[in-house]
Amino acid sequence: MALSPAPAPRLPGHPHFAYQDGALRVEGLPVADLAREHGTPLFVYSQTAMLSALAAYQRGFAGRQALICYAMKANSSLAVLQTFVQAGCGLDIVSGGELARALRAGVAPEKVIFSGVGKTRAEMRAALEAGIGCFNVESLPELDVLSEVATAMGRRAPVSLRVNPDVDAKTHPYISTGLKGNKFGIAHDAVLQAYRHAAQLPGLKVVGIDCHIGSQITEMSPYLDAMDRILDLVDAIEAAGITLEHIDFGGGLGIDYQGDTPPAADALWQALLAQLDARGYGQRRLLIEPGRSLVGNAGICVTEAVFLKPGEQKNFLVVDAAMNDLPRPAMYEAYHAIVPVQPRAGEASAWDVVGPVCESGDWLGRDRALNVQPGDLLAVCSAGAYCMSMSSNYNTRGRAAEVLVRGDRAQLIRARETVDDQLRQERLLALG
Ligand code: LLP
Repeated sequence: MALSPAPAPRLPGHPHFAYQDGALRVEGLPVADLAREHGTPLFVYSQTAMLSALAAYQRGFAGRQALICYAMKANSSLAVLQTFVQAGCGLDIVSGGELARALRAGVAPEKVIFSGVGKTRAEMRAALEAGIGCFNVESLPELDVLSEVATAMGRRAPVSLRVNPDVDAKTHPYISTGLKGNKFGIAHDAVLQAYRHAAQLPGLKVVGIDCHIGSQITEMSPYLDAMDRILDLVDAIEAAGITLEHIDFGGGLGIDYQGDTPPAADALWQALLAQLDARGYGQRRLLIEPGRSLVGNAGICVTEAVFLKPGEQKNFLVVDAAMNDLPRPAMYEAYHAIVPVQPRAGEASAWDVVGPVCESGDWLGRDRALNVQPGDLLAVCSAGAYCMSMSSNYNTRGRAAEVLVRGDRAQLIRARETVDDQLRQERLLALG
């Protein structure tokens, strides 16, 4: 079918995705060709976009002792992990499952840090066995249990305490983590005592201090405030005779979903390092845990328009991707731009883009101006972070396939999940 030229829509903040000759390309490849070969829904990632997002942090830390631990919860597909591991990153993990993935991707265990409020004894043992670099501990009971587990194994667990600095990250309440009312971290005024406790536990070795104030942060000021409050604590902890080898400032930097204007990673770190230098900690080993900002705008989800359902109050455009593939709109009312892969000339009308799942919450975008016909391909933007890693099998829908592109080469990095894959662990009733 011949498509007449139409103006190219804007993709927010997606380097390496662009329209050429009326069709969306990822690096050197037409997105439509990938969809034809692998079917839809299909996650398509640009490896170059991931590496250029990483390069901004690396520029920011040039000449410093710093380790970038990619927060793999954002996208834990093995080939994505390998991309960052092979570029020198460590990994921030939050479960035994993520530990196994991290090791499978070939990370050096000493570059792994383990965050999370509810580590089990089995997870602690597995991480000690692997020889990870640091446990980011979030409570006093966790300190005691970790010491006990490590002592029983004849080891000492390297620990850092996650401080809740009580600063407002000015983001969605579900992804704000550094306020007093959050479940995360140890309250600022209880931290010194917790360090004293940690320092005398036999199974622990205090190595650092840690914080994370939230996610999709688009301003510098919460970071600057958090840094000040953390450095106040470092002063006090070291005055008490406990040495900290590293300071971990967490992740959280936002991306452009809808005209958002977060600072660039190198600009943010220029400001933060100036503050660190001014307070005399510029030579300290630094860790960070970025997730979304490394992968979010390096990926799209390609979906096919299935039916048009114009209505009296609303027009619904039913597509083959759904809340099980892209849960962020349903969970946080998050905005993801939705653009046609091959834009049509002519007038657009307003559509609610929805999936086939049996829930009114199964929407991907509301009131989107699109000129679309059944069979057209659409790209749901900013789908590299917290989409595949949060996907589910709701409605017995298989997880989508994933393709990673570098230059003019594409690799299928996750085959589409089959119904057999889903049924494999289940057993038919055998009780008679
Ligand atoms: N470190 C810790 C301890 C974290 O809890 C998180 C994210 C990160 C690092 C990485 O944060 P990032 O750089 O990606 O902002 N599912 C939500 C986001 C949840 C973030 C949870 N913690 C979403 O889709 O917006």
